[in-house]
Amino acid sequence: METAKKHLIIIGFMGTGKTTAGQQLAAQINLPWVDTDQQIEQKWGFSVAEYFQRYGEASFREQETDVLQQLLSGPPSLITTGGGIVLKPENRAMMKEQGWVIHLYATPEEIIRRLSANRDRPLLQGDIRQKVRQLFRERDGKYDFADCTINTTSCSPDDVVEKILSFWQ
Ligand code: S3P
Repeated sequence: METAKKHLIIIGFMGTGKTTAGQQLAAQINLPWVDTDQQIEQKWGFSVAEYFQRYGEASFREQETDVLQQLLSGPPSLITTGGGIVLKPENRAMMKEQGWVIHLYATPEEIIRRLSANRDRPLLQGDIRQKVRQLFRERDGKYDFADCTINTTSCSPDDVVEKILSFWQ
């Protein structure tokens, strides 16, 4: 059965500006903004980094899928996601079926530049250059199911929001 697409969903690698775009868009479109990482943090009462430390990545991925399912079955929303939400094929299928999916892209070099100062991501501990490149390889093609891809490499946050709005409106 074909389900009506009702959500606006933003996916993309860490550091592509999903949260910033979500924050800005929330003030401009008539949809409540929810973020999968924030939902997990609220549910557990500690940060994503701490979740990884206590329970590990596999458990985090299960939480991510649960939260995604809940959000998709709720009222039409603007949903921003953690960069690894695309790893599970069932997550990709759910998002594609139930929402319009925007993929924010940036080159690995730009992501390394943006995230070098902000080292709280559990998957980027150690050699950030090597980690980003390795994750890029592992995730190759997994963001491609999106309805629209925006290259944010040399875009300001305002430009990104404008491009999302022109797709959405
Ligand atoms: C992850 C991205 C993070 C967060 C977690 C894992 C990933 O979210 O969900 O650290 O696997 O790419 P952001 O993309 O918002 O940084």
